[in-house]
Amino acid sequence: MNLLHIDSSPLGTASVSRQLTAEIVRAWRDADPGTKVVYRDLAAAPPDHLTGELMQVVKFRNLEHLNQRQRDELALTDALVDEFLAADVVVIGAPMYNFSVPTQLKAWIDRICQAGRTFRYTETGPVGLAGGRKVIVASARGGRYAGTPMETAIDHQEAYLRAVMGFVGITDVSVIRAEGVAMGPEVRAKALEAAGRDIERLAVPVPA
Ligand SMILES: Cc1cc2nc3c(=O)[nH]c(=O)nc-3n(C[C@H](O)[C@H](O)[C@H](O)COP(=O)(O)O)c2cc1C
Repeated sequence: MNLLHIDSSPLGTASVSRQLTAEIVRAWRDADPGTKVVYRDLAAAPPDHLTGELMQVVKFRNLEHLNQRQRDELALTDALVDEFLAADVVVIGAPMYNFSVPTQLKAWIDRICQAGRTFRYTETGPVGLAGGRKVIVASARGGRYAGTPMETAIDHQEAYLRAVMGFVGITDVSVIRAEGVAMGPEVRAKALEAAGRDIERLAVPVPA
C-alpha cells in the first residue's frame, strides 16, 4: 500500500489540519504497518502558480529547446503527477482559507490535473483517469459549514476538493473534519475530539 501524505497549512505545529493528517497516517500505519508513506509539504515547498509558459512546456515537452528553469518546472509537474498516481491512498491536509483552500494546495491541484494523465476530454465530456484510489481530506476550519444549506453553500473547500477528485475519477473521498476551531476553546476541543473519533473509525483495508 502506497500512501501519499500532503500538508498545505503554513502554520507548522499550530496547524489543526497537520495534526489531523499526522493522526490519520499514524492510524493507517498502525492498521497496515507495511504502508509506504511519501510526504509532500506544500507550504514548505509550494509549486509555482501556473503560467502560460509552464502550460506550453508541459503540453509540448520539447526538451531540447527548454532552459534549465523550464526543465525543472516540467520535472516537478511530472514528479507531482507520478507521486499522485503511485498512491493507493492520498491524505490531504486542507485548511479552509477564505471559503476555499490555501493557494499552496490550489497550486498542487493545478499541477496534478493534467490532460492525458489524470483526465481527458471526450465527445461526451471529461473522463477521469485516476480512479481506483482513496482520498482522505483532513479538513480544518474556523467556522461551521456542515450544518444548514446556507452554510454548505459557501463551503468551497471540501466541496471543491470532492469536485476536483471526482473530475480525475476518484469517487472514494472521505472527510475527517474539525470545524469551529475559531469559535472558542470549548467548541475547538469538541471538534478535535470528534475528528479523533472519526479517525479511529476510519476503515483501513488490511492486506491478506
Ligand atoms: C488566511 C486565513 C483565512 C481563513 N479563512 C477562513 C474561512 O473562510 N472560513 C473559516 O471558517 N475559517 C477560516 N480561517 C480559519 C482556518 O480555517 C482555521 O484556523 C483552520 O484551523 C486552518 O487550518 P490549519 O490550522 O491547518 O492552518 C482562516 C484562517 C486564515 C489564516
